[in-house]
Amino acid sequence: MIGLYLSGTGNTRYCVEYLLRLLDETAEAVPIEEENAAERAAAHSSIVLAYPIQYSNAPLMVRAFIREHAELWRGKQVLCLATMGAFSGDGAGCAARILKRCGAAVTGGLHLRMPDSVCDSRLLKKPLEENRRIVKAAEKKMREAAPRILAGDFPRDGLGLSRRIAGLLGQRLWFYGKTARYSDGPKFSGACVGCGLCERVCPMRNLSIQNGRPLPRGRCTMCYRCISLCPRKAITLLGKEVTEQCRIESYLSNEKEDAE
Ligand SMILES: Cc1cc2nc3c(=O)[nH]c(=O)nc-3n(C[C@H](O)[C@H](O)[C@H](O)COP(=O)(O)O)c2cc1C
Repeated sequence: MIGLYLSGTGNTRYCVEYLLRLLDETAEAVPIEEENAAERAAAHSSIVLAYPIQYSNAPLMVRAFIREHAELWRGKQVLCLATMGAFSGDGAGCAARILKRCGAAVTGGLHLRMPDSVCDSRLLKKPLEENRRIVKAAEKKMREAAPRILAGDFPRDGLGLSRRIAGLLGQRLWFYGKTARYSDGPKFSGACVGCGLCERVCPMRNLSIQNGRPLPRGRCTMCYRCISLCPRKAITLLGKEVTEQCRIESYLSNEKEDAE
């Protein structure tokens, strides 16, 4: 078994690694931006494909990865794991449908609610304690799902027609354009000092530092990784100002702290 994932602010990485530890301690989780990710997955018969939901869809980078490696999926057992801030009717189904067309046997779908990664919108901001509770609930859902998955009883989150209609009418239909192509973002404020961290962490290699300023190449997959890591909070995409930078590490309860 192997995990393949895209993760902007770490939620999806955390979830896929957590689930894999419960399913198969020897299984690795590999980010899809890694050059040999598809080759490494080819050696496995069972794959957990994990990604964050964007506008009730799978990110374009994930959909493109599936199609670019169409041969990889033939005959593979694939469990789709989708993390989301609030709602996604058929988040797992969005990738599952493309995977099936590539010959995969989709075994199941697992939806996990996690902290919202959009950190330049006050509307989506939740208190730290609430985000910690959300992560704990996701962990519990994975602990409950794992023994059933091992027994062959897979969760069906986001799969099936009623879920597809919910995803379509709930959001995708209205926001389809947002995930149909890559964004020409992100935007950089005067606080940027051209340190180059954003260039190094971008999974799409969308940014290059030119004359001390990051220049986007129109290939942003809206993962929010650069925004959540920028030491100057100088990067925005959908909003105008970074409130709290979302990083999974902030939402993991400190056991010692909890005991006190
Ligand atoms: C551009 C964008 C769009 C999003 N759209 C949705 C959405 O439609 N529904 C939802 O529940 N969460 C949405 N989210 C929240 C993320 O899916 C969620 O926070 C996810 O766990 C982030 O995972 P990551 O840290 O692995 O990137 C969106 C996030 C971004 C950045």
